[in-house]
Parts: sequence; C-alpha cells; structure tokens
Amino acid sequence: MPIAADAVYQLLRNLTSPVVAITSERNGKRNGMISDSAVRASIVPAIPRVSVYIHKFNYSHDLVFDTGRFVLHLLRDDQFELVHRLGFSSGRTRDKLADVPHRLGVLGAPVLDECYAHFECRVANVMDTGSSTCFLGDVVEVGHGAAHEPRGGVMTAADFRAHMPAEWRAEYEALLRAAQAFAAERSRDIRPMLWRGLNP
Ligand SMILES: Cc1cc2nc3c(=O)[nH]c(=O)nc-3n(C[C@H](O)[C@H](O)[C@H](O)COP(=O)(O)O)c2cc1C
Repeated sequence: MPIAADAVYQLLRNLTSPVVAITSERNGKRNGMISDSAVRASIVPAIPRVSVYIHKFNYSHDLVFDTGRFVLHLLRDDQFELVHRLGFSSGRTRDKLADVPHRLGVLGAPVLDECYAHFECRVANVMDTGSSTCFLGDVVEVGHGAAHEPRGGVMTAADFRAHMPAEWRAEYEALLRAAQAFAAERSRDIRPMLWRGLNP
C-alpha cells in the first residue's frame, strides 16, 4: 500500500537540520532568517563547508544570491525568541536585526553575539530546486557566541516544534502552509545554474 503524502512528509522531517539563523547584508541592509535545512557539506577538516536551502520568496535569498556570502549560526536550545523574530516575518518590511546585538564579520555580513557557534561563508556553488536555491558555502571564519565557548545544546527542529510557545503555533503552521503552496507551484521548474566564477 502506498504511503500517504502527509506520512512521507513526517518521515522526511527526520532529515531536518538543527535550527540555524542565516544572516546576510547587501548595500548596508542587514537581515536574518531561520532555517532547518543546513547540513555539513564536507568531511575534510581543512575544507569546512555547509549547505542550506533558501526559498526564493525570502528576502534573504536575494541578499545571499547577490552578494555570495552569508553567516550560519547554530543556536542554543533556549533561543526561541530569536527564532520567532527572524523566522516568522520578512526583513523586506522591517529591520529584524535592529535590536539583535551583532557586528559585521570578516565577509561584511552580520555575526550575532548570541548563538552556539557561527560560520562565516562564501558561496562556492548553487543548485536550483525551482522553489529554492541550495547554497554551498566555504566556511572562512568560525566563532562561538558571546559566551566564548558552547554551553547547553543546540536547538533542533524537533525541539522548536515541540516547545514553541502555544500562541505561536497557529502562525507557524499558516506560514508553513503558505511556503508549501509556493513550493508546490514552482518545484518542477528547475533551471541549470552556473555560479559566478565557476567555469563550465
Ligand atoms: C523552524 C523554521 C525553519 C525554517 N526553515 C527554512 C528553510 O530551511 N528555508 C527557508 O527558505 N525558510 C525557512 N524558514 C522560513 C524563514 O525563516 C522565514 O520565511 C523568514 O521570515 C524569512 O525572512 P526574510 O524574508 O527576511 O529572509 C524557516 C522558519 C522556521 C521558523
């Protein structure tokens, strides 16, 4: 008997990453978003890499695509407010980092003071999925949050879904449904892409 689409989606949730904050900057505009699709993309300690899928409707997508840089932050398992601030509304209409302590890192993108660890990345390649772009990032700088050494655990997607404040849940589910509707329209329209600086 075939497995229903909703059950397949629940199985695939086992493959979500920890909850991370992705920051970016373009022409003085700083932004941050939340993702649970970030993974280690290299097994070579001397060549650290990560990858992350960012939907094309997100403001962050254009900032990362245009500048070729981003900072990926693993979050502590108590940073629910930050996930709400960066992951539930778009930076197109407001400055989400205005009250979030940060500095510009070596690549010029925002590095948040409060996190478990951060990885400053230069985009090395991209893959179009139709609805999103998968960015492969070369890690050029790494640091811990203001605590200077990791403490506690990292926030996982399952942690966030299970323990977010009850009053956020309806909005979270509505945003997820809207993102799924966007992706359903575009997921089959995959274009070949060649990242700047790569030779065919
Ligand atoms: C737990 C969680 C996981 C998310 N994962 C992703 C993701 O993997 N990719 C993505 O494009 N958006 C993801 N989002 C949604 C974006 O964070 C959200 O659309 C955000 O408002 C984008 O902000 P921006 O328009 O300022 O870039 C996630 C949100 C939450 C709360």
